[in-house]
Order: sequence, then C-alpha cells, then structure tokens
Amino acid sequence: TAGLTTSKLSFTPIAPVDYTVDEFTVPEGYAWRPIIRWGDPLFNDAPDFDPAALSAEAQARQFGYNNDYSDIIELPGSKGRRAVMFANHEYTNENLMFPAAEAAADPARVRAVARAAQGLTVVELERRNKNQPWSYVKGAPLNRRFLTETEYQLTGPAAGSALLKTVADPSGRRPKGTIGNCSGGTTPWGTILSGEENFQGYFRAPGTSDGDKRYGLKDKQSTFGWELDDPRWDTRNPGYENEANRFGWIVEVDPMDPTSTPKKHTSLGRLKHEGANIQIAANGKAVAYTGDDERFDYLYKFVSKGTFRTGTTVADRELNKTLLHEGDLYVAQFTGDSPVSEITGTGALPSDGSFDGTGRWLPLVVNGASAVAGMTVAEVLVYTRLAADKAGATKMDRCEDVQPNPATGKVYVACTNNSDRGKVGKEGATEINPRNLNRDGHVVEIIEDGGDQTATTFTWNLLLVAGDPAKNTSTYFSGYPADKVSPISCPDNLAFDSVGNLWISTDGAPGVIGYNDGLFKVTLEGPERGKVEQFLSVPRDAETCGPIVHDEERHVFVSVQHPGEEGSYEAPNSYFPDYVPAGSQAKPGQFKGPRPAVVQVYRVD
Ligand code: FEO
Ligand code: CA
Ligand code: CA
Ligand code: CA
Repeated sequence: TAGLTTSKLSFTPIAPVDYTVDEFTVPEGYAWRPIIRWGDPLFNDAPDFDPAALSAEAQARQFGYNNDYSDIIELPGSKGRRAVMFANHEYTNENLMFPAAEAAADPARVRAVARAAQGLTVVELERRNKNQPWSYVKGAPLNRRFLTETEYQLTGPAAGSALLKTVADPSGRRPKGTIGNCSGGTTPWGTILSGEENFQGYFRAPGTSDGDKRYGLKDKQSTFGWELDDPRWDTRNPGYENEANRFGWIVEVDPMDPTSTPKKHTSLGRLKHEGANIQIAANGKAVAYTGDDERFDYLYKFVSKGTFRTGTTVADRELNKTLLHEGDLYVAQFTGDSPVSEITGTGALPSDGSFDGTGRWLPLVVNGASAVAGMTVAEVLVYTRLAADKAGATKMDRCEDVQPNPATGKVYVACTNNSDRGKVGKEGATEINPRNLNRDGHVVEIIEDGGDQTATTFTWNLLLVAGDPAKNTSTYFSGYPADKVSPISCPDNLAFDSVGNLWISTDGAPGVIGYNDGLFKVTLEGPERGKVEQFLSVPRDAETCGPIVHDEERHVFVSVQHPGEEGSYEAPNSYFPDYVPAGSQAKPGQFKGPRPAVVQVYRVD
C-alpha cells in the first residue's frame, strides 16, 4: 500500500483561515485563477456579463450561478490541449445578484433571471500544453446550457407511469428542466451524473399527502416563487398534480454530444439526491451509490441489470449509456458491534476502540419487482423515501457524497452533520451516527463483503469523526494523532487522487469551527491513515464544491459556491474572484460583488 500514499501533488498544508477572511488561500508554491465565473458568455451570440442589465435572455447564454459539481474530461485526440467541463448550478442568491430596490420593483424579472441561472452547463476548455492551466472557449462546439425548458427523457420502470404524467406531458416520459442540482459523478463511460436535491423549494403543493409530507412539499409560497409565473410549479393546479414527481432524480448528461437528450433515471429512486458515483463490479455490473441529503434520511445502492462493455466503439458507449435504465435498488441498514450502552452520544469511543460493525443492503426493487409490501415498482421509485421507511433503513446524519475509491473499491460516505440527532422526539446516537447534536459530521468507510461491489452485506467503520480537535474532544481520525491534523468540519463532496487518497471539500465549517470552508486531503492506507491536511480555503461564506484532483498534472479544481452569501448587493461580504480594488471602477466583465466560479489551482513552477 506504499504507493497509495505518494502522489505528485506534494504540498505543505495551509493553516485554517478565519471565517471573516475574504481570500482564496492555496499552499506555498501554488497559484489560482478562475476558469469561468457566473455570467461569463458561452456562445458567440452571448452578451458579455453586465451586472447592471441582467436579463433572462442573456443569462440563458451565459454560465449559471452557484456551480456545485464539476468535472473536466480531456477530449480524445487533443494531446491534452482540449477538454470538456461540466458544472451544475444549484440555486441562486438574488440578494447578491440584484440591488434590493431593483428586485422589489420588478420581482418577475428577478425570478426569470434566477430560472435561467439554474440548470447545467457544458463548456469546452483549452490550453497551450499539457500541465498548463485551462481557459474556457467561448463559442466551442460542445458548449451547452440546460435550462428549465430543456426536455429530458425519463428512463426505467417508473417512466410513463400515472405518477409521472401531467397535462403538458401525457406520456409521463418527457419532463422539462432540472433544478436544485447538487453533487454528481462521472461515469466510467464518460457521461456525467448530477443529483436533483432540494426540489421541494421550487413548488407549492397541497402538502397533505404522505408523499408531500415526506418530501417537504408545502402549501405556502415556494422559496423561489416560480409558481407565480408558470402553473406547473404549483401541484395544486389541475393537470400538474404530478409535476414535483418529475424532480428528485439522478440526471445523466452526455457532454460529448450537444444534441443528446439528457435523462432522468427512475431506477435510482426519487429522493433529495446529493449525487451518484459508479464502480464497475468484477462481474461487470455498474454499481451506483447515492445519498439522500436530509437529516435522518438514507443511503442507497443501485446494481445494473446489464453489464459494462469495455470496448470503445460508439456501439459500446451507447449500450453503457443504458446501464442505469434497469437494475436493483437497495437501501442501507447499519448495525454496530459495540453494546448500545457504550454509545453515549458524546463521540467517546466504545471499549473495542472503534465505531464499526456490519450492514445489509435491504432490497427495494429486485429483478424488476417491488420488494416492498403494498407498493408497486412505480410507487417504490417515485416515493422511495416511503419505501425505505417500510424496509427498515438506518437513519443517517445527512449523506452527501458517496463515492467508491477506484484504487480499493472501499466506499466513503460523507455525513455532513445532523444538529437534530438526540433532540426531543428525534432518534439519538447510534454507532454509525455516534454524536448527538452532530454539528461537525463524520465519514463512513464501507467494505463490501468479499470485495464484491454487488454484495448485499458489508462491514463498515468510521474513518473520521470531524471537528477541530483543539476545541472538541469528540473527534477521531482513525487513530492518527488529533494534534497533527488540520481541523475539518461538515464534509460534503469527495474525490480521489490517482493513488487513492481521499479529498474532502466542506460546506458549513464557518458556523461550526469558525474557519472558512476548504479542501482537505486524507490519507487512507498505511501508518498515516486518518491524517487530514488542508490544501485550500475558499473565500468568505463560500462552500467548497467540485472538487477535481488531477494530481499527475499537479492541478486541483474547485467549484466555489455562494461566496459572500451572508452579505448583500449593497454591502458585499466577498469580492471573489475579481477583487476589484476599493474606489476603482469594475472593468467590463467584472463585478464589484462576489461571483461563483470554478477555480483551478496549479503549481507556479
Ligand atoms: Fe446541496 Fe447536499 O448539499
Ligand atoms: Ca465498535
Ligand atoms: Ca453538497
Ligand atoms: Ca451541503
């Protein structure tokens, strides 16, 4: 395992950065610059970013807001000089985009711009030579925006079911738009998966059914108010009762084909998907792991019916693109191996010295049939949370990214936090979620039995119980000395470098440990297992997303989401990434306030 700990990307960890600091901080010897920012024009006919004249028409041709998941795939035959980048756009911060007076005067225009700033972006990148930093290419052939009117194809057993039909789409197979996209994953066949997460914030609904209640759909004006513009965002409207059922899926996009219809896969269930990541099992099945990011919700696994084609012909790739259409869906049940009396909720280790145990993947859909009494396959897939409740799944502390390590097949689950655990009327600490009022989160390591990704049983242990060890005695780093790690809180997105180290980006650290969010490398194997080293820190109020680690080129990329979120247009908390000096005019294409951006970090030598 020695090879697992050495990477070309060597660095001296940065010190944690106070939450009031509005800087993007990288290790000594590294530099950073944005690849693309909110509002940057994507097409030859796209207007330049003009913060004084935002319009839905312009925004639809420009990079969207609040980039979350991102990945960069080199284009074949380009000698490393051309790549395609994917980024999704989770939500908008209208209070940073528009002056308050302007927003109050014309709220419909604000909503229209916000709609056009959501969705997905595919954009080509270029560079002079391998190892150089990338620039985005305006007007490149693969550039594409996915908007709320973009048509998707629903696939899998629930597609076409009565639960997915609306007056605008009697087929129940052609929904429009994607919203609330959070994390994602890149498939072994080169497509991108993206998770539709907090879709409930875009709807007004009766709010009385079990389904509405379980997914948080309510009869009050939605967060974004789009139901004021278009009846489909209000499921009280006749004909649109099922519109919210058409969101909450894993989306698949082919970034290499700008004319392809993106898909929503019903076989992976409907929940507040953080993202999905795939490992090909020894028997060739595609296994996808996906988490439901809500306090006390669940962890899922999908196993494809078909098998992965290793060939590289167009026909092979087209077949691989159907692997997520059909398969088995499971939900995780975790059992601790220590006495319940030893799980005190404080994070104190039980007497066997670790939070660990065994687990089972409980079937929800197997061989195309429902495994849940009283529910059809379509019901299980559309109301997956209700099905998993019945199956007896384990309530988790908000599963964000779930990702198998390509080097070892072990699966890592970022449980970001759960401040409600142990509160009155709520479930208390368990061995898998061992802290009450869990503000810092933890990371689970799962080892499928027999090293078989399709197994229905596994063992697990906690890799990290996060926090700032200087102020918190309940942290745990797999036995690595707590006084030698970077403080880390609220793990969210995961990535691996080429030698199998885990990289964790965080969301929420400022409010818990008082430091800006960042990106951290975690050694997984060998004597330094559990060593956490901070690589970078994002500006004030921002969340660190992406991330992409191309350690062989000594490049790291992060998506900087909602910089300056706690400020306002009139009183910005952040000036990232342009940092226009005080008292000077913004140049064309610049903005005095913050702009979400995808950033690359590279070695200056
Ligand atoms: Fe959008 Fe689960 O974070
Ligand atoms: Ca134990
Ligand atoms: Ca997230
Ligand atoms: Ca998060």
